Formats: sequence, C-alpha cells, structure tokens
Amino acid sequence: MTSAGLRFDLIVRGGTLVTPGGRIRADVGARAGRIAVIGDLGGATAAHTFDATGLHVLPGVIDAQVHFREPGATHKEDLATGTAGAVLGGVTAVLEMPNTDPPTTTAAALADKVARLKGRARCDVGFFVGATADNVAELAELETLPGCAGIKVFMGSSTGSLLIADDETLADVFASGHRRVALHAEDEDRLRERRPIAEAAGHPRAHPEWRDAETAQRATWRALALARRFGRRVHILHVTSAEELDVLDECKDVATFEILPQHLTLVAPECYERLGTRAQMNPPIRDRRHHDALWDAVGSGLCDMLATDHAPHTLEEKARPYPHSPSGMPGVQTMVPVMLDHVAAGRLTLERLVDLVCAGPARVWGLAGKGRLAVGFDCDLTLVDLSARRTIRSADMATRSGWTPFDGMEVTGWPVATVVHGHVVMRDGQLVGDPHGRPLSFIETMAPTSPA
Ligand code: DOR
Repeated sequence: MTSAGLRFDLIVRGGTLVTPGGRIRADVGARAGRIAVIGDLGGATAAHTFDATGLHVLPGVIDAQVHFREPGATHKEDLATGTAGAVLGGVTAVLEMPNTDPPTTTAAALADKVARLKGRARCDVGFFVGATADNVAELAELETLPGCAGIKVFMGSSTGSLLIADDETLADVFASGHRRVALHAEDEDRLRERRPIAEAAGHPRAHPEWRDAETAQRATWRALALARRFGRRVHILHVTSAEELDVLDECKDVATFEILPQHLTLVAPECYERLGTRAQMNPPIRDRRHHDALWDAVGSGLCDMLATDHAPHTLEEKARPYPHSPSGMPGVQTMVPVMLDHVAAGRLTLERLVDLVCAGPARVWGLAGKGRLAVGFDCDLTLVDLSARRTIRSADMATRSGWTPFDGMEVTGWPVATVVHGHVVMRDGQLVGDPHGRPLSFIETMAPTSPA
C-alpha cells in the first residue's frame, strides 16, 4: 500500500515502536484520536508531524493508582496539577483513588469527580469508588457508572477515613457486583496492636516494624480466601513481601497484583535514615530480602503491573513527628524515568516495562482502547530517549506538594514527549496545548458503539 495522498491529524515519524509483535522502525498515523496506520507514511501528510528519530515510542503509560486529593485536600494536589505531573512524566492515563474528602462512595461524589475533569485534566482519568459498611448495597450499581474503574477497599487504615476491617463486611462487598476489587491489604487489628512500636520509636525507621510483613500477609490471606469463596476477582495493590508473592503465584485464576517503583528502588533501613518521613508510606518500604523478591516477580513475569500510589503530602505535613506524619509519597511524574533507569541498568527489558505499565494495567482494569501500539487503539504515546542522562529534581515536579523522594537521582532514560488522543501534550518538559483529558471507558461496563 502506498501512503501517498493519505492525510492524518498527527504523524509520528521515524521512531522505534515497541509493539505487541516486537520493536519496529515505523511511522504512526493518527486520525480522530486513534492509531489509523502503523507503517511507512513517507508520502502522507498531517496537520502535525513529530520527528521521533532516535526515540523509542511506547504505548501511553498508565498509572493505575494515584491520589489526586480533589475534592478536600487540594493544597496537596488537584486534578489539574496531578494530570500535569502525569503527562510531564510520560503518563497518559491514571486511575484515581477514593480517599478524598468527601470520599468517592456515592454516585453523586463520582459524578462530581468526573465533571471536574472537563477543561482541567491533561490525561485520561478513571475513578475508584470506595467501599464502606454504609454503601455495600449500592456497590453493584456504583461499579457500572461512567468513569468508574471499580471498587477499592482499605482493609487497614491509611490516609482518610475509608476502612473495612472485618471479614463480614468484606464478604458483603465481594457478594455485591462483579468487577475486580482493588484491595489495600494491611490487617487493621494487627496495625492497632502494634501502633505502640511506632509511638515508642518516634522515627520512621520503625515504620516497617509497626506495619510489618505479617500485617500485609494477614490481610492478603483473608482477601484471597474470600475471593475464592465468592468467586470474585481481586487485585492486591502495592504488594511488598516475599511471602505474599509465594502465595499469589498460586492464585492467578482469581488475583492480580501490582508492585510500586519505590519498592523496587528504595530499601530499608537506608531510605529511612536518608529520607526520614519522606520514605514513610503504606505499606512500607521493606528490607533487602523483600526488595529482591519483588524484583524476582518482575523478572519472572509473575507481577501483573506497576503503579505508583502517587500520594502527595506537603513537606510541612511530613515534618510532623513520626508517627503523626502522614504516609505517602508522590510518584506519577517519576515512574517512567525511574523505571527506564532500571532498564538501562539491565534489571528488566524495555518490553517487560511496557508489559508492566501499558498492557498490564489495561488488561487488569479492562481499559478500552489502551495499552498497546496497534491500529484501532487510542493514539496515546510515551516517547522516550533511552540514552538521555538527566537528574530528577524536586523543583521540576508539577505536584502541588513540591517534592519527590528521588530528588538528586541521576537516571539514564527520559520521557521527552507525551501524546494523548493524537495530541502532543508534553514536549521537552513543557506542557503543550489546553487540557483535553477524558473519563476513561472500561470494557466491562461500556455500551458498544454502533457502526458509523
Ligand atoms: O502511603 C499511603 N498513602 N498509602 C495509602 O494507601 C494511601 C496514601 C495516601 O492517600 O496518602
């Protein structure tokens, strides 16, 4: 087929594409926000052309766990600043968590979040609905609403008020609805019992002792047992311990799980001595044994996906004495450079990274049109320079919290442009154009569109 005479909205020329079939040198032609052609578009024209010579073109990177704090705590982040950080970091779609104020536990709260995207979000966004003892009866309905990514359960308390600590209520959640349930797996009873460890220590180096590996494991075992009992698919968020991985290995029929870049990059106790409460998050950064096991799960293919748990708090809030300091760290803008640096160091291949941050989240959460470079899929692209050497700086972060735990980290590999729905939205560290992000569509709940 000759491309002469063809016209596109955007042509990305001459990059090395990471496709489901392998790496190929080809052009990408976008029309009406989707990938129309992959191939040699030498004779074609376009409203916009991007020269990707020397760059690798990945499917748009998805961060399936972010806290953008709107409404309720917009001094930490909001949907505009959070999605700006996303596209500056090469991320084209995010799933946002329900522990806002008010929490996303009703149809009205979800619709309010979806409405807030218009003209402000720079990438696509889906929202989790939080399960509570009060909304269990409505969950089956709530999970079908536009923009809903699924149901999220906090089994242990973290930031915000959402919590389901007992198996009876959790069983009711699993019996209501059918989509995959996202779980923050820390056992609340054990957290309460062990809180004095943190109070006595008064330093975040005690964080992985207070919220120890057994705290995570107890909750994960409970969640998996209930998932089997109800035949309900689950997703264990931010897995941190070697023992959980051993069991998840046997649960591929019912459970998916994710690992975070910070658990692959920071190690206890060093991170707590160096970063203090900035390294404090739930579940915690653990020691080398767990760290190595997480890398094994990346290498073996066991791990389904990565996500960041982008959880901004201001440095002033972080300066409160531990354990009164809030847990969480920003991450949406640094996932791509941090993970590309691991690629450059030979810890995983670029293909495996694409599996973990593009295809993986799209598969786990059923994101329509996302996750692969293929005709018919949304033209969301993350263009990266694998050989660029840069330093991650807090000053360059768009997050309203103004910091990153990776400040000063020298990396090899950097996102240099981001394309969302066929529009270049970031180039060389600068935001481009107006915000046009949309609510995400989910395969399980979308009505099929009729042929034009
Ligand atoms: O460290 C965390 N912070 N873990 C969570 O699960 C919640 C998050 C937050 O929202 O601050």
